Amino acid sequence: MTPYALTTEQRTTPLGLDVARPRLSWKLRSEERGAAQSAYQIVAAAQAGDLDVPERRLWDSGKVESSSGLLIEWDGPELAPSTRYHWRVLVWDQAGEPATPADSLFETGLLRPEAWQAAGRAVWIGRDSVNHPPMDPPTDHDRTVATHALPPPLYLRRSFVLERQPVRARLYSTAHGIYQARLNGSRVGDSELAPGWTEYRHRLQYQTHDVTASLQVGENVLGAVVADGWWAGYVGFDPRKPAAHYGDAPAFLARLVLWFEDGSQRSVTTDGEWMEGPGPIQFSDMLMGEYVDAQAQVPGWDAPGFVDVTEDDSPEASEGNPGGWGGRRSGFRAVAVVDETPGPLVAEPDEPVRVTRTVGAVSVENATEKSIVDFGQNLVGRVRLTVRGVAAGTRIRLRHAEILDQGELYVANLRRAEAIDTYVARGEAEEVFEPQFTFHGFRFAEVTGLPYELDAGDVQAQVLHSDTPWTGSFECSDSTVNQLQSNIEWGQRGNWVSVPTDCPQRDERLGWLADAQIFAATASRNADVSAFFARWVLDVLDGQDDEGAFRDIAPVMSINRQAAPVWGDGGVVIPWHLWRAYGDQRTLERAFGGMRAWVDFIHRNNPDLLWRKRTGNSYGDWLQVDAWTPRAVLSTAWFAKSTETVAEAAEVLGDPETAQKYRQLHAGIREAFIEAFVGPDGTVHGDTQTAYLLALGFGLLPEHLVAAAAGHLVADLKARGNRLTTGFVGVNLLCPVLTEHGHADVAYALLHQDEYPSWGYSIRNGATTIWERWDGWTEHAGFQSASMNSFNHYSLGSIGDWLFGRVAGIDQTPASTAYSELLLRPTPGGRLTWAKGSQETARGRVACGWSLDQAGTVTVTASVPPGSTAVLQMPTDDPSSVTEGGDPAATRPGVEALGNAHFRLAAGTYEFTARSTALRH
Ligand code: BGC
Repeated sequence: MTPYALTTEQRTTPLGLDVARPRLSWKLRSEERGAAQSAYQIVAAAQAGDLDVPERRLWDSGKVESSSGLLIEWDGPELAPSTRYHWRVLVWDQAGEPATPADSLFETGLLRPEAWQAAGRAVWIGRDSVNHPPMDPPTDHDRTVATHALPPPLYLRRSFVLERQPVRARLYSTAHGIYQARLNGSRVGDSELAPGWTEYRHRLQYQTHDVTASLQVGENVLGAVVADGWWAGYVGFDPRKPAAHYGDAPAFLARLVLWFEDGSQRSVTTDGEWMEGPGPIQFSDMLMGEYVDAQAQVPGWDAPGFVDVTEDDSPEASEGNPGGWGGRRSGFRAVAVVDETPGPLVAEPDEPVRVTRTVGAVSVENATEKSIVDFGQNLVGRVRLTVRGVAAGTRIRLRHAEILDQGELYVANLRRAEAIDTYVARGEAEEVFEPQFTFHGFRFAEVTGLPYELDAGDVQAQVLHSDTPWTGSFECSDSTVNQLQSNIEWGQRGNWVSVPTDCPQRDERLGWLADAQIFAATASRNADVSAFFARWVLDVLDGQDDEGAFRDIAPVMSINRQAAPVWGDGGVVIPWHLWRAYGDQRTLERAFGGMRAWVDFIHRNNPDLLWRKRTGNSYGDWLQVDAWTPRAVLSTAWFAKSTETVAEAAEVLGDPETAQKYRQLHAGIREAFIEAFVGPDGTVHGDTQTAYLLALGFGLLPEHLVAAAAGHLVADLKARGNRLTTGFVGVNLLCPVLTEHGHADVAYALLHQDEYPSWGYSIRNGATTIWERWDGWTEHAGFQSASMNSFNHYSLGSIGDWLFGRVAGIDQTPASTAYSELLLRPTPGGRLTWAKGSQETARGRVACGWSLDQAGTVTVTASVPPGSTAVLQMPTDDPSSVTEGGDPAATRPGVEALGNAHFRLAAGTYEFTARSTALRH
């Protein structure tokens, strides 16, 4: 047995952690059946070598009897700031044999906000706009919609001299806006759009970078480029800009700490000594795009040896000055200190946005004066274009679109987001343009201004998103279903940009709670979203008001009103999901007060237990088609669900009294629901698919009416020729509820449907991501209204959870957390002949898959990590036929028969076969 994938606070070797008692985890793998951890020991030390020397250890947990390696709290001495801690885990297996130990490390950040104020105090610096107003932005950038002038980003520099080489150096930095730090001519780190987006009034994240190797004896230069970003740029569809969001101008805050051999320390911080100057980026905005005039580059501005001519305005001094902007002289000048107080700074707790892959062009259509590039995939990021041998001053323009309309870019659905990047060439043999502080959602790019035909090799798309580790895979015998999984994955990538956004392309890109909560289960199949969501939950909680109401979006922006049903319930669903999927009790604890306050808010305003008042901007079953689920049915069902979740959470947190109170409330809501909405024949008011799905999925029906209600649901689907009507409130329940109630055949019919409305229809029409609406484009009506028609929304992709959970068969029992007790229910069906899924769970790798031959033999493979067990339901109507390697399954090691083709499996890898008369292919 081997421990692997060691993490601290759910991250691999994080730098700059601001958590007093970080939680340590590891996963386990083993070839052996029945492998389990019987005990562990954690030791920690200041140096890796000290781990071997007992008397030099900082912490030794001693041998702890436990089967779990999940989120074990640091119990060593109080952590010091800016300190690296090495830790090792030793584990013993079920026979008491020790395994090979595994090592990891983490490093604390500044830990206390006062650290920013310590000697060499760091203050916020920005442009001195009073004495040096920024030059007017260029006027030749084809601005179409935006009216507000976009100022150039800040180029900031600070020179300092080192007499000695430091042995260790860390840069702690952040911005009002989005920034890239520079040190001695190179970029620091690989974060994009740092510091990310949080509820800035409550929390602003700082980043930590190890810059030891970039420093030298002699002159050094620390710099930064800071653009408006979420702080001061265009955000959402709110026309108010600037100031109305967070502030009206970007600013930078940094503390570079250097440690020397003799134990002494020195800091270089943002202060009045910094200089601010011009650079090639004339403006950059996340929605509008970026304009780069490469002629305005100031060579060497961020490196030692740069001659600053700020104070000398004479033509002689101007000559040869590399700092000219647009032919005019311009130099670096003193910054303004814009704020003395650091603000609510916290260390970045999850993986930042990064460029994670490069996608090449699949084709380039060169027409007169313009080229249209197809990347073959609707994605999120930016274009990287190599420009060859054009004259200085040549202006090249990039426009972006998700889709083409008769060969031209379809940009109407971007609304006010211009998504135009401009490059003015310097006139060199080869120049590379890649905007830095903007991102777009696109599959196609139009390039104009090149005096030659663009070669496909000269253009790529850089894909960027929050770099959550990818953990899941699903595959099956049907290419359309595989394309659906791919569309779901790309939707997740593209919309995981610091916050879970609804869409990445138009003037919106907001953290809508409903979209996120409906998709959360699917998201955690594909990737480890534990740290990402745990951070966002804080934004959700920050948005809650004194009455207990959440907001529809987090961070709160554009719309600041009490949340609608389903939207606000995201504040309950997501912390609970983090507990279920990852065992994150700390986030559940943190969120519990807010979860409860939300339910109390609904209850207070709806004492008759039907949620009809204070429903915010009640969106209903958003984007349903050809159906109208009554709002009160939907909201009351969700009131019940959230109340039940609060009861379960109270139980987990060791408060049975509170649990009992909410269980009672839940029983009352359920009764009220039945009384108001359920007919004696099992019809649910509204008689829509979503009405049945909510009632069945949330357990709101009297037992004797369950089958009848499921029958009404199936009848509605069949009457429509196996077509759905759900919007994104019902859609995530559709296939799971059908399967649960014995109608997997209907779920598969929906999966394989390719007539409108269906997932297959979008795929048949070229979708490479999940569309916002079923009718985003149809043969009968063309494009839906451009006012709301994104081709990259993840919510309708929430079927992904069912692909993993029922088609491949990976799930967990209701009482299990973090997949401690797997529920493996591979479900052959539809036109599939095989399917398989795998997931790196918090405990280790889980896999399940099946294949079916023409004779009706079904083979199931499964992997259960050490420490977990599984209940496997073999898909067969002949339980006696289940064998492994020719022997009856029940006689195999690690297997216990539970009857009816159900087996309990210990950790290990299994391959079972069975005969089935029902499942012939
Ligand atoms: C967003 C959604 C969101 C909705 C609220 C839309 O503009 O794109 O996905 O949940 O508004 O109804």
